Amino acid sequence: MQPTHPTFTTGRTSRRLSDDDKAAVLAAVAAFTLPATLPPVLELELGIGNGAAMAARARANPQRFYLGSDVYLNGLAQAARAAQGLDNVALTNLDARDLLATLPPSSVQRVVVPHPDPWPKASHHKRRLVQPAFLSACARVLQPGGELWVVTDWPDYAFHTLAMLYHHPLLPLHQTTEAAGRCKVKPAGAGAAPLGPQALAQPPAWWVPTKYQQKAAALGREAWFIQAVRRG
Ligand SMILES: C[S@@+](CC[C@H](N)C(=O)[O-])C[C@H]1O[C@@H](n2cnc3c(N)ncnc32)[C@H](O)[C@@H]1O
Repeated sequence: MQPTHPTFTTGRTSRRLSDDDKAAVLAAVAAFTLPATLPPVLELELGIGNGAAMAARARANPQRFYLGSDVYLNGLAQAARAAQGLDNVALTNLDARDLLATLPPSSVQRVVVPHPDPWPKASHHKRRLVQPAFLSACARVLQPGGELWVVTDWPDYAFHTLAMLYHHPLLPLHQTTEAAGRCKVKPAGAGAAPLGPQALAQPPAWWVPTKYQQKAAALGREAWFIQAVRRG
């Protein structure tokens, strides 16, 4: 499939790959086809990085099916290794937005966006993955009652997401975090409505820390777990 969006990433989309890694990633990506009948409990992870966290969740939850996307081929090569032997994982290098567009409506139980590229400069905010059209694409594929999770260690990205979700007709905020409540940064611009009651949100019980989350934690930045639930 031809990409339909410019892909912005603060990382590279590939570095030199060893022959083994190249073979692993090409095999993993080639193996990706949407089954005619989608698994009943499908979880999407958009921007999986090295895929280790998603593979650990897949190992712990064999009844769920995990579909992971990343545009960074080297990360996908690591993800392919992490997912070896798991038959409830599929990987693709489709841009997250193109992957969302291929999926039927109401086919996904959970969408996870772990530590999207932060694009901290204001002039780059339009490059952020979380945008109104992206959220609407998530809402389209989610089943009623399905969950969207955006996890970020950037306060400004958290408020960017919260402000957009606050106004989204199909993805009402379920909870935010104590950290968000304590955060000094406030949403700005047109989305600067009050955020409403913010319940404490610990990582959900099924969460496995990601590589970026661990790196951020080592630098003293805690993660925000923002959840919205697809309206029925
Ligand atoms: C900051 S890294 C986080 C990686 C991983 N989720 C983690 O927490 O360790 C963001 C990832 O999103 C990927 N990415 C950026 N834009 C993307 C897009 N449009 N579609 C799919 N992946 C994307 C990047 O290649 C990168 O691997």
